[in-house]
Amino acid sequence: MTYDITIIRPEMREEQITPLGRGLDSEKRKALRKGLQTLHALEIMAVNIYKCQITEDVTPLNRALATAMSNEMTHMQDFQTRLYEYGFKPGKLRGRFWLIGYVFGLGSRMMGAKRVLKTGVWAESKAVEHYGKLLASAEWDDETRAVIEKDRADEYGHIARWEGFLKGAGS
Ligand SMILES: [Fe+2]
Ligand SMILES: [Fe+2]
Repeated sequence: MTYDITIIRPEMREEQITPLGRGLDSEKRKALRKGLQTLHALEIMAVNIYKCQITEDVTPLNRALATAMSNEMTHMQDFQTRLYEYGFKPGKLRGRFWLIGYVFGLGSRMMGAKRVLKTGVWAESKAVEHYGKLLASAEWDDETRAVIEKDRADEYGHIARWEGFLKGAGS
């Protein structure tokens, strides 16, 4: 299935919020909880990376970073919502991911555009890897699977965008 990655915040209606996966056995629920918590934490990190990389200059890169930040905010909300639909809570260590995102975002901004872009590719590749694991870890209902797959398609789009900028930057 292909997804429109120019939509950075898909619509979500109130009837779409519903309890999920309560009848699953404890092994399956444990795997789900771990996967959802990991992605939620990684999305928190991604939001902060992009947020801290943006400068006040009006440039194509800053516009792309703000677009990616907004898209990552959507992803973070997607996973936070799923966690509660499944009866879970966000991971306790997510604050560390917030901090890592802050440090990596700010640190890369100080080192220039090339480091900004490479940091983005690194974080997105990590996310894509975990999306693959999460998608394989459970039998998702069609709606949840579509949300996760759309988010993963967004991450591939981010990687392509940063690699495009890197090529344009002659590196
Ligand atoms: Fe994301
Ligand atoms: Fe991303």
